[in-house]
Amino acid sequence: MFDSEVESSSFSGSPRRITFRQFKKVNNPHSIHGIYPYRGKMSSLDAAHVIAQLPCGSRLLDPFCGTGTIIYEAQLRGLRAVGVDNNPLACVIAKGKTEPLDREETLARLEETIAEARALSTTKSMNDAARKYFHNVTADQIMRVLRCSSEFSPFLLATFYGSICLAARACNNWLWTSTSIGRINKPLRKVNFYSVLQRKARKHIDHIIGNPPVTIHKHDTRQIQMILPRSSVDIVYTSPPYFDALDYTGYYTKIVMDILGTDRSSVRDGLIQRYASYKEEMWNALYAIDKVVHDESLIIFVVGDRMVRKKLIRGSDLFSEIAPWANPCIIEREYTKTASGLWDTINTTRRKEQVIIWDLAAGGRK
Ligand SMILES: C[S@@+](CC[C@H](N)C(=O)[O-])C[C@H]1O[C@@H](n2cnc3c(N)ncnc32)[C@H](O)[C@@H]1O
Repeated sequence: MFDSEVESSSFSGSPRRITFRQFKKVNNPHSIHGIYPYRGKMSSLDAAHVIAQLPCGSRLLDPFCGTGTIIYEAQLRGLRAVGVDNNPLACVIAKGKTEPLDREETLARLEETIAEARALSTTKSMNDAARKYFHNVTADQIMRVLRCSSEFSPFLLATFYGSICLAARACNNWLWTSTSIGRINKPLRKVNFYSVLQRKARKHIDHIIGNPPVTIHKHDTRQIQMILPRSSVDIVYTSPPYFDALDYTGYYTKIVMDILGTDRSSVRDGLIQRYASYKEEMWNALYAIDKVVHDESLIIFVVGDRMVRKKLIRGSDLFSEIAPWANPCIIEREYTKTASGLWDTINTTRRKEQVIIWDLAAGGRK
């Protein structure tokens, strides 16, 4: 029994049985998942617990893989994992966590880059949108590394982007929480960005396993049938874009994208994150996913509720209505201590999270 387990419930389809638990905390500090603070990142403890019960060697798809929490945990347990996400930054992080690498070579490359960055006589200044969060010295160091990072592997890029987030928080005296990201806390502290980067790389590199191979596609899941063969997926496991329409290019990612010069609005345009069109867009995604699963596939979605004009809409109701699959099993649980949980405390609402399981071998299609 896990010490963080508070309750468990199980789904029992024929002949499969999966137990779901609720964890008191969502993070595993001794893992690679802290490499980047992505908004909407799912609990790695939850993912690890579910994946440990899935048949090793199965082909698993996460069609909204974000920074690859599920994909990494699947790789760790020997599943053949494929991740798809239309946010390019999320895909870099997911690749960085799962691609094989040579430890010594990677750390040496980082040291060379830092030496090269220090030696630059001049560099471009950071744009105003991002600069306001950093001490001048830290901002200059970030821009120097950026200029020297063109050969970075996905792991080094993921470390670089995660270090930018960490440095933004440190420059603001570590006062940022998930609800106060972006609030400027003067005086801004001087933070040595090179040390942040070195420490972060050393902290995470030993968690890279790189095998079995994983594929991450930067692609729109509404057209997933264009990149995956028909009936090729045994298990779909995902936390789809949230029903309360989070901005996956916001928060820390906005700062990173501003520094990289990424056109955020064009990234956002490719994501399902407008409440008004959520149902229709998600319908398209589910029907596209249906083309790549087969008659025995197992499909697991972790979804949540949304408050609309003081009325609670259950995520599982919406997904049960629009999915092409029949007889869902629904397991409802409290949000663990996350930004969503905090939001509920502030707004005195009690939204819940649901796990929806469709076992096509037992339930079939509608
Ligand atoms: C809840 S997040 C997944 C987070 C992920 N489980 C993790 O731990 O990092 C949902 C993801 O769906 C992605 N997304 C939204 N619309 C998409 C689309 N049309 N095609 C592919 N991915 C999309 C977002 O970019 C976001 O990363």
